[in-house]
Amino acid sequence: MQQIDQRLSQAFPPNSQNNTRYIADIHSVLANVKLDDIGFKDIKFRTVQTKRDITQLKLLQQEWFPINYTEQFYTAVLNGHTSSLLAEIEIKFPTGRKEKYIIGAMVYQSRLSKNKYQQNQSWKQWFCSFFQTQHALYIMTIGVINEFRGRGIAEYMIEQLKKRVFESNKTLAYIYLDMVVYNEVAARFYQKNGFNKVRIKKNHYQIENQSFDAYVYVWQPN
Ligand SMILES: CC(C)(COP(=O)(O)OP(=O)(O)OC[C@H]1O[C@@H](n2cnc3c(N)ncnc32)[C@H](O)[C@@H]1OP(=O)(O)O)[C@@H](O)C(=O)NCCC(=O)NCCS
Repeated sequence: MQQIDQRLSQAFPPNSQNNTRYIADIHSVLANVKLDDIGFKDIKFRTVQTKRDITQLKLLQQEWFPINYTEQFYTAVLNGHTSSLLAEIEIKFPTGRKEKYIIGAMVYQSRLSKNKYQQNQSWKQWFCSFFQTQHALYIMTIGVINEFRGRGIAEYMIEQLKKRVFESNKTLAYIYLDMVVYNEVAARFYQKNGFNKVRIKKNHYQIENQSFDAYVYVWQPN
C-alpha cells in the first residue's frame, strides 16, 4: 500500500513524521483570510530588519528545513553579514489592527567563487577569473509558506539575485546552492529557473539520523 506523503515541506526526508504540523503563527492567522484576496502586488519584498523578523524566520525555517540553524546564523542575518530577502504581507484584523507577517524568505551569502562550479568557461574567462577575485552568490535557504506556494514568490526572489549577477560587472560569476537529493519539488523549481545540476556531494547532510547526498545546482549568465 502506498503511504500518503504527510510532509509540509519536501526538504524533510520522504518518510519523516517530524513535519506534519505548522509552527509559525501566520497559518492560524490565514485561516480567517480569503487567500485569493491577496495578490502579488500586496506582497512586499525587503531584507531582515528586526528581532521580530528573526523570531518569525526561525519558526518558518523549522517548518521548511530538517536542519537546525544556529544562533550565529540568525545573528549574521540580523546584522546583515549574511544577506536576506523576505516576502511579507499585511493582515488587517476585524478589530482594525494591522500586522505584518513573513510568507517567504531567502538567505544567501557572497562567497569566493570556485572555478570547478563554472560551466563552459572559455580559456579567456578562465584566464581572467584566475587573476581576478570573483565571487558567487550562495543560497543558504529559500522557502515559501504552503498557502502561497506556486504563485511565483520564490521565482521572484531568485530573479533578484540574477539581477545582482547581471549588474555586478562580472564580479559575481554565478549563483549556486546545495540541495538534498530527494527534494523533487525544489529540483523542478531550480531547473525551471535555469539552474543546472553540476555535482553530487556524498553524505553531505545528516538528517534525522541518516546520511543523504546533496546536489550542487548552479545558475550562470550566458
Ligand atoms: C521550493 C519552493 C521554495 C518554491 O517556492 P514557490 O514560491 O512555490 O515557487 P514558485 O511559485 O516561484 O515556482 C513554482 C514552481 O516550483 C515548482 N513547485 C513549487 N511548489 C510546487 C509544488 N507544491 N508541487 C510541484 N511543484 C512545485 C514547480 O516547478 C512550479 O512551477 P509550475 O507552477 O510552473 O509547475 C517551495 O516549494 C518551498 O518552500 N519548499 C519547501 C522548502 C524547500 O524545499 N526549499 C528549497 C530547499 S533547497
